[in-house]
Amino acid sequence: MAHRRAAATPSSDELASHALQFRRRFGDGDDVRIFFSPGRVNLMGAHLDYNGGPVMPTAIDRGTFIAVRERRDRRLRLASTLDPEMLELDLDLGAATRSKRWVDYPLGVLIEIRAAAIAAGLETRLTGLDILFGGNLPIGAGLSSSASICVGTAFALKTVWEQALSRMDLVHAALRAERGFVGVQCGIMDPYAVGLASEGHILWLDCKDASSAYMPLDNDRYAIAIADTLVRRELAQGAFNERVRQCARAFEHLRERQPESTCLRDIHLEVFEACRSEMDPTQARRAQHVIHEVARTFAARDALLRDDPVGFGAAMTRAHVSLRDLFDVSAPELDQLVESAVACEGVLGSRLTGAGFGGCTVILLRRGAEDELRSRLIADFSTRFGRRPAIGFFGGDAGPREMRLD
Ligand code: GLA
Repeated sequence: MAHRRAAATPSSDELASHALQFRRRFGDGDDVRIFFSPGRVNLMGAHLDYNGGPVMPTAIDRGTFIAVRERRDRRLRLASTLDPEMLELDLDLGAATRSKRWVDYPLGVLIEIRAAAIAAGLETRLTGLDILFGGNLPIGAGLSSSASICVGTAFALKTVWEQALSRMDLVHAALRAERGFVGVQCGIMDPYAVGLASEGHILWLDCKDASSAYMPLDNDRYAIAIADTLVRRELAQGAFNERVRQCARAFEHLRERQPESTCLRDIHLEVFEACRSEMDPTQARRAQHVIHEVARTFAARDALLRDDPVGFGAAMTRAHVSLRDLFDVSAPELDQLVESAVACEGVLGSRLTGAGFGGCTVILLRRGAEDELRSRLIADFSTRFGRRPAIGFFGGDAGPREMRLD
């Protein structure tokens, strides 16, 4: 096959380098274990998870590296390659408090896995640990570095502490940590996408009842590109929370006309159309996006099932227009990347991914179209903004796992 994928990451060089950094930080010794946990990109179902709708994420072969070594005492030390400081505490976690820093994510998970071990009567397996986090996933780019680190930490801890926890247990531990300890009202999509990842598949996840299925995505025929605007909006979390609130208010209003509905995803288009003139105009536009995006996501799934990648890609691009015009989460840099991508031969569709406001677009393309796409994105973007976006071509990934150190 002419355009087979490049070797998947993490490469043995990346792993060796992470192990080396671990030893520099925590001292020499051979008994270091390394775990990998992917990031994710969502192809369809934008801003639907917290509205009970369907989403179609897939894990990517960039993510978090977690190096772990057991200690003989009960100390826990958590460090990151991006932070000169480290958190030190005792295994009883007496001093575990939220610091509003990156370490809250793995610490929240640690609290969960430790509690699960105690509940299962397996407390004696808990040991002190030195842990170093790192990776090759752009942070704050909408590729879910938070779910990557949370589910990855849950996996590493259950493996090292020999706990009998299922993939779903790990997903829920990650979710509870993010919602409880970290305090982010995230939807269920990200930890599911990471924890249930299966290479060569898109996850179909219905966020109303958390039912899921795998849809094939042929990595030899199609590639996923991520184009990063390198724009990071500090106020993105606030703007995201505002969208969550606006959708909730729109639903409160619409539910009066459709009392059996349990979330915005349930509202029929006719009910919405009949009510929209009496709604707050912003809330109405948010609801319009959600209701149409639900229909688009079902249509995209059908396109994939009948092996119609063109239909799938077109749904992605229509989703971007709706995110830009109705949900107001795009940015000129994102719009430019989508516009340039879809003008390329071999590109099936493109849209912003993650929450928006900056970050990345995702592009679905036929293998072989990579070079033209890259040059066009860089040329158009540089002409308009005077700098280059970061372009990456990603393969799929199988989810959190222990890696062998050669
Ligand atoms: C962020 C959130 C996800 C989801 C997307 C929008 O990435 O973490 O849960 O809501 O935004 O689809």
